[in-house]
Amino acid sequence: MPDDIARPDPDILAASIAESLSKPLTEARGLPAAAYTDPGQFDREQERLFRGGWVGVAFSHDIPEPGDSIPMNVAGAEIVVLRDQDGQVRAFHNVCRHRAARVLQEPGKGLKSLSCPYHSWTYGLDGCLKSAPMFEGPGKGPTGSLDGQAYGLLPVVCHEWSDFVFVNLDGEATPFEDYIGYLDDRFANFDLAHFPPYTHHELTLNANWKVVMEGVLEVYHEKFVHPKLDYRIGKNGEQTWNDALKGDTMGFIGILPDGEEDKPLGALPRVPGMPETGPAVPDIFLMFPSTSINVMEDHIVRTLWTPVSPTETRWRSCWYFAPGAADDAAQRKACDEAVAFWLEIRNEDAPLVEEVQAGLSAWHPTPRNTVFSPYWEAIVRHFQQQVVNGLR
Ligand code: FES
Ligand SMILES: [Fe+2]
Repeated sequence: MPDDIARPDPDILAASIAESLSKPLTEARGLPAAAYTDPGQFDREQERLFRGGWVGVAFSHDIPEPGDSIPMNVAGAEIVVLRDQDGQVRAFHNVCRHRAARVLQEPGKGLKSLSCPYHSWTYGLDGCLKSAPMFEGPGKGPTGSLDGQAYGLLPVVCHEWSDFVFVNLDGEATPFEDYIGYLDDRFANFDLAHFPPYTHHELTLNANWKVVMEGVLEVYHEKFVHPKLDYRIGKNGEQTWNDALKGDTMGFIGILPDGEEDKPLGALPRVPGMPETGPAVPDIFLMFPSTSINVMEDHIVRTLWTPVSPTETRWRSCWYFAPGAADDAAQRKACDEAVAFWLEIRNEDAPLVEEVQAGLSAWHPTPRNTVFSPYWEAIVRHFQQQVVNGLR
């Protein structure tokens, strides 16, 4: 029995994991199976990665107008994300300062304020407590004992970027500009905002969020699982992209293999600012831990991945096409085909990530630390290193 699998599953935080991950890829071994199943590990990730860093939680277009508000649970925190009267996105803990009821239960449109269902304490869209009716008796609100500023909803740091709303729950994350800097530069010449949302889809997968992310990131399986996804593997079976492994940003930058020509565009216009020739394959990036953007030649897909439990992950994607595409029969057909294509890919991936989860969750006589294909899976190793570094 080889040494590397003869020892018991080490704790994911053990120095040996970080050390093993940093070896040359042929020797490197990654996260143990317990990292994908253990509730304690899940809790640590929620705390350190999902409350301690930036995490995409909504699309900007979910709350297009002032007063549009969405309640949600993010990594155990009940929050509300809203657009204030000035059009700014804000986020607050959705927990009443009186006796802690959730102030907003359902998404709201054009709200002027947020009113708690229990004793009607009412908060402005800036989070300030505006009224606490009858607090000091019939017809008498607070007369100085309650400071509206001090008893406002607690703010959550948030940032809008490229139709995503990101939050940082503990307020200690790296500045957003640093977090997103690489992609800001990468897409500086692309007018990504030009393409409006076209449609959404969502689903819950029975797999740990890291299993799902690793499946999104690696191309190794594509030859075997996605017969139609042919643009990331060249005619000779070689990769047709360069890895971009930049800290919290990781993904693929397409390249045109020697002797191959860029595929002509179909009925849909190109993303404004994208070069007229190449890349043959799109840019696909993960913003660690679980937000992704695919910039294709003629459409964009933005995705929010949300860990629900150690073995469940929610997936929500939005597709974007050229303005007016929905009103033109030929373009609409092309849009629908592009969406159907990605859904087919997702339907091919879903049973396999659940398959991986079943194996990881099974009792097994030896540890199962990830083994990496040295040709295809540097990106999976990078992702696992971000996990380990984020937890330490
Ligand atoms: S709990 Fe919200 S007003 Fe009492
Ligand atoms: Fe896949």
